[in-house]
Amino acid sequence: MSKKKFTFIDLFAGIGGFHQAMVSLGGECVFASDIDADCRKTYEDNYGITPEGDITKIEAKDIPSHDVLCAGFPCQSFSKAGNRLGFKDETKGTLFFDVCRILDFHKPKYALLENVRNLASHDHGNTWKVIHDSLEELGYNLLPEPVIFSPHYLGIPQHRERVYIMCIRKDLGQIKPFTFDKKKIHPCSIDTILQDDDEIPNVHEYRISRDMENLIDLWNEFIQSIKAEKLPGFPIWTDRLCELDSNEDLSQYPTWKQNFIRKNNELYIENRKFINSWLKRANKNPLFYGAKAKLEWQAGNADIPNIWNQIFQLRPSGIRVKVNTYFPALVAIVQTSIIGSRRRFLTPRECARLQSFPDTFKYDVKPAQAYKQFGNAVNVDCVIMFAKHMFNI
Ligand SMILES: C[S@@+](CC[C@H](N)C(=O)[O-])C[C@H]1O[C@@H](n2cnc3c(N)ncnc32)[C@H](O)[C@@H]1O
Repeated sequence: MSKKKFTFIDLFAGIGGFHQAMVSLGGECVFASDIDADCRKTYEDNYGITPEGDITKIEAKDIPSHDVLCAGFPCQSFSKAGNRLGFKDETKGTLFFDVCRILDFHKPKYALLENVRNLASHDHGNTWKVIHDSLEELGYNLLPEPVIFSPHYLGIPQHRERVYIMCIRKDLGQIKPFTFDKKKIHPCSIDTILQDDDEIPNVHEYRISRDMENLIDLWNEFIQSIKAEKLPGFPIWTDRLCELDSNEDLSQYPTWKQNFIRKNNELYIENRKFINSWLKRANKNPLFYGAKAKLEWQAGNADIPNIWNQIFQLRPSGIRVKVNTYFPALVAIVQTSIIGSRRRFLTPRECARLQSFPDTFKYDVKPAQAYKQFGNAVNVDCVIMFAKHMFNI
């Protein structure tokens, strides 16, 4: 494919991660579809195209012909492979079937698909096999193995492993093997995507509360005061920082849980005096309950560990602290990362940057929707890289 104009369609379009990438390479969008009304509005606001709705209700003949089909389709189970019944039987009832029927009808030159990392191992490899074999059966060449890639390999500070599937119509050639030298991974720093606080409208909306600050101060005191050879690699569960109850039968729990309970107990025994006094004070903080009374330290060792120097998330399993090189994957459910040094959540604009959307992108005015949409999106720079590889440009 030369850099001259080509046409593409954007299935499961979301807010148009593929759209951004394809347009930057000279593409023109001739059709988009997404079932979610908020995504369709964001798409229209940015690209002047109103996506159609549910793809399962759209006939292939009603979609314009195109050179490239793009789709970040949801990962679903297929019926067991092995019968070789062909894609029509094996993918029926899944959204991948809709990708296949559109490919079958239009036979575009290329297809670029994206999916969660789990697709590579999903259903013991059956899902990948059905996808791979269906695309081949439809007349496309693609690599035999799923390619897994993350924006942080490119120096973009987000760890987001996803499967990318590059397909070329068989009469046009092969996809070259894709190799990436992990030694060439660019060092990441979250600073490359952070906004200055004074340029964030309503910055106070992103600040963590005073109680939350106090809670983090308490946890800081905890990790700086406990005597341990190194900071615990196991989750700290404060309801388990106590003596073991001889009436409790630990064998009722799975082995991993028994292990964590014992380790918390050992930590308690070694630091009993400090922990007793700390717990008394921690219990006065109104946020010190449930997941916020648990800590998952994943930021390595430091002479004086300090959560305020790192990034952290409030997860159902506890407060997870990570080193401030790159963020964990943005997700559609709200577990937005907190930047310790700024004492605030990531802003939607920073999420846009983590997905390599330009600063001109107009995100949804409702922050919860904006976070969800960026959490679902595909990273634009990763798509550009794979599209160039696929087009051989
Ligand atoms: C993983 S997201 C893809 C996001 C997109 N690649 C982007 O960059 O924003 C999957 C999208 O598929 C949409 N979707 C799910 N079922 C659908 C259907 N039956 N028809 C059309 N869109 C659907 C969801 O609303 C969601 O936006």
